[in-house]
This record gives sequence, C-alpha cells and structure tokens, in this order.
Amino acid sequence: MVAFATMASFELMMPVAGAFQYLSQTVTSAKRLNEIIEAEPETPFDPTGYNNTAKGAIQFDNVSFTYAGAEKAAVNSVSLTINAGEKVALLGRTGCGKSTLLQLLTRSWDPSQGTVSIDSTPLTKWRESALRSSIAVVSQRVDVFNGSLRHNLAMAKTGASDEELTAALEQVGLHALLEGPGLDVWLGDGGRQLSRWRAPPSGDCTCAAARRTNPVAG
Ligand SMILES: Nc1ncnc2c1ncn2[C@@H]1O[C@H](COP(=O)(O)OP(=O)(O)OP(=O)(O)O)[C@@H](O)[C@H]1O
Ligand SMILES: [Mg+2]
Repeated sequence: MVAFATMASFELMMPVAGAFQYLSQTVTSAKRLNEIIEAEPETPFDPTGYNNTAKGAIQFDNVSFTYAGAEKAAVNSVSLTINAGEKVALLGRTGCGKSTLLQLLTRSWDPSQGTVSIDSTPLTKWRESALRSSIAVVSQRVDVFNGSLRHNLAMAKTGASDEELTAALEQVGLHALLEGPGLDVWLGDGGRQLSRWRAPPSGDCTCAAARRTNPVAG
C-alpha cells in the first residue's frame, strides 16, 4: 500500500515540473493580452451619444490629419460633401491619403483640424455601436475565417436567415459558391478553399458587408 501510494504521488507531481517549464511563456503572453485589453482607445466614444442608423450623408469640413511623429500632414484641408445614396470613388497616387480619409470616417483617429460628420452629426457625437453598424469597410486585405460560408457571412448580421445570405451572395455575383454543400461549404483560413470557384475572396467580404443594413460602405 505504501509503495502504491508513493508511486501514485510521484505520478501526480510529474506534470507540475512540465507546467513550470511553460510558466514564464504563459505569464508573458498574459501580460501582452492584458496590455491590449486595458489599452485606452485613442478616440473615446460617448456611450450616451447619437444613436441612429445613418442615412449616409457624409461631410469632411476642412479636415487635416498628421500621423504621430510624421513631418507632413497625410490629409491637408480636405472638404468634401457626399449626399446620402451617392457613390464616390477616391482616386489618386499612392500615399495621397485615400485610406487615411476612410480611417477618419470610421473614427480610427480624430482629425487634427476640421470636422467629419455623418447626417450632419459630427462623428465625435456618435455612439460607437451606432457608427459601427452604419459603416461597412471592405479592405484590400482579406479576412475570411476558418469556418463555413454561413459562419463568415453571419458575422456581419448575426441571425441572418439562409434566404438573406443567399440573396447577399447573388447581389455580389457569388451565387456560384452555393453549388454543392451550399452555405455549409468550408472556406478555410483566408478563404483558401474559394480558389476552387476562382472567386475573389474580397467578394465574400463585400457580401458580408452587403448584409449590413447600412448605406455607408468603403
Ligand atoms: N499608420 C501610419 N503611420 C504613419 N504614417 C502613415 C500611416 N499610414 C499612412 N501613413 C502615411 O500617410 C500618407 C497617406 O497614406 P494613405 O495610406 O492614406 O495613402 P493612400 O492614398 O491610401 O495610398 P495607397 O494608394 O498606397 O493605398 C502616406 O505618406 C503614408 O506613408
Ligand atoms: Mg490606401
């Protein structure tokens, strides 16, 4: 009995040595995660701010923005009025500030000078949830998650019906994806499986964006 108890306690303690081996790594990762979770946002929102779905009238009023540490302004005295429902393409050489304008519209940063407004309400007065649900951004970088087509599309609108998701795919010309397993088709990391249909993964993002009930898209 004594021998058995000794062997059992030895077996019990064995994994503890292994756990110590990973302890410093785990503590470092936890510290990094904590830094992200506790970081103060650069653009704090008013939780009791303007809470409406945007109609989509966008106004940049004499907007300038300089990145921290940069010598030159990335955007310099830009005024632009876009009416609700209007489609506008910003064209210009690389580095002229197109993406910066979009980031100012999503309030990633606030302008160093001037005001950005949607529906005549300055972005600083918007409640974050209202602003986020009013804007969809389709970036050049593809974010397709390792899951099914349904899961990826439903990220833009939780609880969307299969009919809504199918309609969104048709809207952006990706209905060919519905052949075979349909919405259950597995996309894989970054949409690698999509190459079978030669469909651009960005189409999937556009499709997800189309599921938002919003008029403002980038
Ligand atoms: N995070 C950043 N920090 C510092 N400077 C930046 C940052 N992002 C962009 N810039 C600088 O700001 C300027 C405008 O960049 P921006 O990305 O808005 O241009 P763009 O018109 O979108 O270019 P592209 O056509 O290449 O996408 C450039 O000079 C760029 O180097
Ligand atoms: Mg850009």
